[in-house]
Amino acid sequence: MSDEIVLKVWRGDQNGGEEVEYRVPAEPGMVVLDALHYVQHNLAPDLAVRWNCKAAHCGSCSAEVNGFPKLLCKTRLDDYVGQEVHVRPMATFPVIKDLVTDVSWNYQVAKEIPLFDPVEPAPFHMQQIDADRVQEFHRCIECFLCQDTCHVLRNHNGKDKYFGPRFMVKIAEFEMHPLDGEDRVPLLAHEAGVNMCNVTKCCTEVCPQHIRITDNAIIPLKERVADRYYDPIKILFRRLSGK
Ligand code: SF4
Ligand code: F3S
Ligand code: FES
Repeated sequence: MSDEIVLKVWRGDQNGGEEVEYRVPAEPGMVVLDALHYVQHNLAPDLAVRWNCKAAHCGSCSAEVNGFPKLLCKTRLDDYVGQEVHVRPMATFPVIKDLVTDVSWNYQVAKEIPLFDPVEPAPFHMQQIDADRVQEFHRCIECFLCQDTCHVLRNHNGKDKYFGPRFMVKIAEFEMHPLDGEDRVPLLAHEAGVNMCNVTKCCTEVCPQHIRITDNAIIPLKERVADRYYDPIKILFRRLSGK
């Protein structure tokens, strides 16, 4: 690693902005957030960057590094040796200031999803395989990097048509729990828009928690919608049985 990092940081607000260059002394093991803290402490105290845990646990420090959605606290600068490092806010959400975006749309979406509704009182008795299946979804730290990269939300402004991969994970967490009594399939088919996903798997690639979003959450949810609304034999059976 050279002695100096050339950092180009997007500075601005909802009215526009531009990249500003900062030169930061390199330290072994440095992550992008360390370099931004150096800038705040020494060069630009008004630089806005959101962070909290600095341990890849809180999901606060999401941004884009050289065009890829990343946690700033988990992105090592020695991965960018010999390159300028461009740091920009997440493109899918409105900018508040510099690297800080307004992700409140996600919290509005979360309110539309019915919570886990157990069919029997705790303590729950269930197979280990069922516990393991939903455990993966609990790892989500709500960084919204998957929402940032999903082209339906990012390039097609589909926020009124699709809840996005993070909320497919949330719905899968409830729907795949064997003791949940709520039916979220109509929500998935309509307001949540699971069929807007065309399985590009970009969300899975950027997830810092390595959740297999597409294979383990979205595709099984699509199958539930297909079974309910597009399987002709099941549709006929439901009509005849009145169920
Ligand atoms: Fe972040 Fe992964 Fe959760 Fe998406 S599913 S919000 S990428 S942790
Ligand atoms: Fe978007 Fe992931 Fe589907 S990136 S299109 S939700 S596979
Ligand atoms: Fe918490 Fe980066 S500061 S995830």
